Amino acid sequence: MANKPVLLTGIQPSGDLHIGNYFGAMKPFVELAQTGGYQTYVMVVDYHALNTVQDSDQMRRRIREIAMAYLAVGLDPNEIILFQQSAVPAHTELAWIFDAITTMPYLMRAHAFKDAEAKNKEISVGTFNYPMLMAADILLYDTTLVPVGKDNKQHIEITRDTAEKFNRIFKEEVFTLPEGHIQSGVEIVPGTDGQKMSKSYGNVIQLFGSHDDLVKAVMSIVTDSSGERPQNVYAIHKLVRSEEELEQMYTEHKGNYKVLKEFLIEDLDRYFAPIRAKHEELKSDDSIVDLVLEAGKREARAVSETKMEQVRRAIGVA
Ligand code: AMP
Ligand code: TRP
Repeated sequence: MANKPVLLTGIQPSGDLHIGNYFGAMKPFVELAQTGGYQTYVMVVDYHALNTVQDSDQMRRRIREIAMAYLAVGLDPNEIILFQQSAVPAHTELAWIFDAITTMPYLMRAHAFKDAEAKNKEISVGTFNYPMLMAADILLYDTTLVPVGKDNKQHIEITRDTAEKFNRIFKEEVFTLPEGHIQSGVEIVPGTDGQKMSKSYGNVIQLFGSHDDLVKAVMSIVTDSSGERPQNVYAIHKLVRSEEELEQMYTEHKGNYKVLKEFLIEDLDRYFAPIRAKHEELKSDDSIVDLVLEAGKREARAVSETKMEQVRRAIGVA
C-alpha cells in the first residue's frame, strides 16, 4: 500500500450536487479509485469554500453532504482516506509558507482571479490565495495524479511551479510534482436549458433530489420544436442508456416529446436507484460518516505532519 501512486481530489462543500457533477467529476474519479492502483485521498475543502459559504449551518450541512455523497457513489471507506481539509492544520500552515515564496504578480495571472476581477468583485484575500492552499492540499501527500476539470488546469500548473520553486530555493526535493488528469472523455453535461448544467444557471437535475424534483426537472427540459429529435432530452438520455437503444426509442416515438421525457425519467430513476438507496442508508445512520471522517482525519494528519517536519527543517525553522 505504501508505494502505490497517490490519487487525490478536493471538493468544495458549496452547493447541492447535480448529475453534471456526477458524470463530470464523481463517476470518473470513483472509477479510477476502484482500479485499486492508487492510495486515494478525498478531501472536503471547506476552507476553500469559506470564501463563498459564510453561514455556519449551511457549511456544517454541506460538509456532511459531500462526504456522504462520495460514499454513496461507490468509494469504499476502507480503501480511501476521506477527510475535512480544516481538520488537518498542515494545509493552512503550508499555504502560508507558499505565500512567502510566491509573488503577487504571479498569482495575479491566475484565470480565476482575473475572472473575479473582471466582474468587478470585491475579491477576498482568500480568493486571491486560493491556488496556494490548493497547492498545499496536493503537495502534502506526495500526490501523483489529480483528476480535474478544464477550469482547474491552471491550478495544477501553479501547484507544479510552486513545488519546483520550493525545491529549488531550499535545495531539497521535498515535493513531488503531480500530474493533472484532465478528464477529456467526459463531455460537458447539458442542463435542462441546453447550456452547461450548473447550479448558477438553475438548470440542474439534482443527484439526490426526490422523484418529484426529477419529474419537474425533466419535464422542464427545453425542446426545440423545429427538429424531430429533442436534442436536450437526448443529450441527457445518452448518459444513462446506450445510443443503440436510444436510436430505436427516439425513432419509434419521433416527435412525441412527452413520452420520450417519461422514458428519460424512468431511465434516470433506474440508473441512480442504487446510489440513492446507499445515500438513504447513510442518511439513516450518519454515525458512519462521522467514523469515516474521523479515521480520515487521523491518517491525513499523520501523513501531512511527517511532510511538514521535512518542510520545517528544509526552510530552517526547525
Ligand atoms: P462545480 O461545483 O461547478 O465547481 O463542479 C465540480 C466538478 O463537477 C468539477 O470538476 C466540474 O468539472 C464538474 N462539473 C460541474 N458541472 C458539470 C457539467 N455540467 N458537466 C460536466 N462536469 C461538470
Ligand atoms: N479547486 C477545486 C475546485 O474547483 C477544489 C480543490 C481544492 C481541489 N483543493 C483541491 C481539487 C485539490 C483537487 C485537488 O472546486
